Amino acid sequence: MLLTDAFAPPGPTELAALERRVQRQLEKPDEPLLKLLGHGEVTLAFAWPAEAPRWACKRLPPSPDRGALRAYAAHVERYIAALRVAGVAVLPTSCHIVDSYPGTGVIFLCQPIVEARRLGPAILRSRAPDAEDPFLNAVLSTVIGVVSPRLAVDSQLSNWADIDGVPHQIDVSTPFTCDALGRPELDSRIVVAPFPWPLRGPLRRWVVPPVLKRYHDPRQSMIDFVANLIKERLEGWIGPAVAVANRLLPSPISVAEAQAYYREDAQLWETTWRAKTISRATTRLMGKTYQFLLPPRTAR
Ligand SMILES: Nc1ncnc2c1ncn2[C@@H]1O[C@H](COP(=O)(O)OP(=O)(O)OP(=O)(O)O)[C@@H](O)[C@H]1O
Ligand SMILES: [Mg+2]
Repeated sequence: MLLTDAFAPPGPTELAALERRVQRQLEKPDEPLLKLLGHGEVTLAFAWPAEAPRWACKRLPPSPDRGALRAYAAHVERYIAALRVAGVAVLPTSCHIVDSYPGTGVIFLCQPIVEARRLGPAILRSRAPDAEDPFLNAVLSTVIGVVSPRLAVDSQLSNWADIDGVPHQIDVSTPFTCDALGRPELDSRIVVAPFPWPLRGPLRRWVVPPVLKRYHDPRQSMIDFVANLIKERLEGWIGPAVAVANRLLPSPISVAEAQAYYREDAQLWETTWRAKTISRATTRLMGKTYQFLLPPRTAR
């Protein structure tokens, strides 16, 4: 059976047990209660049930606003459908709203677990850098084929898995769509919840929209892909990736551009990570539980 053929999502009992485990984990941060598969800048992916893993699960920030949660989950589903129509293979992903701590709900995105060796970074790490590499070419062609003013994808290598020779997108927790006027449709209230409250308004107004907008630019998406190879310590692949990108783009990108972008991007994510840890520390000082799972600090 192919990984993508039949996907049986978790049921309500399994999801309720998962959220109970998350609550225990949030109260006992030092105990290894969850089995981490990986993390990005925003989301943790963990294997559930931890004792006998069947699903990769990603928990979004909880919210008391059920309407906002339903709208966000519907947006993710619409996004996945739009990507598929645009020719992007997406790993089967189920969206669930589960009761969280009193008065709130939380979205879980669940997927089949992809073996580590099939994930983008492991694939390139296992091969000699080559501008003719089929996986590299397939990923970047897919990105160029989809990125447009209304729809976009996170191009970075860690968001792709090779399933039967086809790159599949695995990272759909941030749905990149814009309306007809070019405004991002993402409900950023959910995304900014882990930040200190005085920062949430300014982030939603001044930071989130421009960050989202850059995913809709094909050239920026290529630069982002190349820059991310620095973080992945895959420097040998930078030259080949620039060569492939420049076969696909009307105006060429350079290694220097990617390096400059990497420094700026690293600063942005480091700052946001720090801001969330401040929120976590102040919440705990008040004797409350910080309700968000934060990725560990990324080495840059
Ligand atoms: N289905 C899966 N099977 C195995 N590992 C996974 C799976 N989904 C995610 N991972 C691992 O977890 C990492 C983070 O997941 P993902 O890319 O969805 O989160 P993220 O980059 O923080 O997303 P976002 O920026 O949208 O919050 C992946 O790069 C990968 O290493
Ligand atoms: Mg990711």
